[in-house]
Amino acid sequence: MGCNACFKSKENVCVQKDDMTLIYEKMAVADMLVIASPVYFYGLSAQLKAVIDRFHNPIRDTFPVKKMALLLVGAATLPELFDSILAQYRLCLNFFNLEDAGHVLVRGAKDKGDVCNTDALDEAFRLGQGV
Ligand SMILES: Cc1cc2nc3c(=O)[nH]c(=O)nc-3n(C[C@H](O)[C@H](O)[C@H](O)COP(=O)(O)O)c2cc1C
Repeated sequence: MGCNACFKSKENVCVQKDDMTLIYEKMAVADMLVIASPVYFYGLSAQLKAVIDRFHNPIRDTFPVKKMALLLVGAATLPELFDSILAQYRLCLNFFNLEDAGHVLVRGAKDKGDVCNTDALDEAFRLGQGV
């Protein structure tokens, strides 16, 4: 919702009273943001996108977050599977002025447990160690 009330209110309060308050509280003490999503028709899940959209609030400028990382899974094995999300991710890094902490991309993840048959969990662990 682009009412922009948060831009006009003193404490950047959002008029939507929901669980986003909890996320704002976590962002206020985080130095890094890790976002994770399945690929849904070449995009992020609608749920994650809804959260990202709620950073249309000047409160984001008060967060100490410096870095972002991205975890994605998709069922297909196409080389271009993650292209559109990666493009959006890079543009958002730039827009939010965040450093890229890396990404883990998993193709061929159709069913529960498929990720365990790949190197992705080790990759994610190493990513976490490196930041
Ligand atoms: C609505 C929907 C759209 C999807 N679109 C894609 C897609 O474009 N490419 C792909 O490889 N997999 C696609 N998938 C498969 C999911 O990315 C994959 O099954 C993933 O492991 C699902 O994760 P989840 O159980 O957390 O939703 C789609 C699945 C759903 C439900």
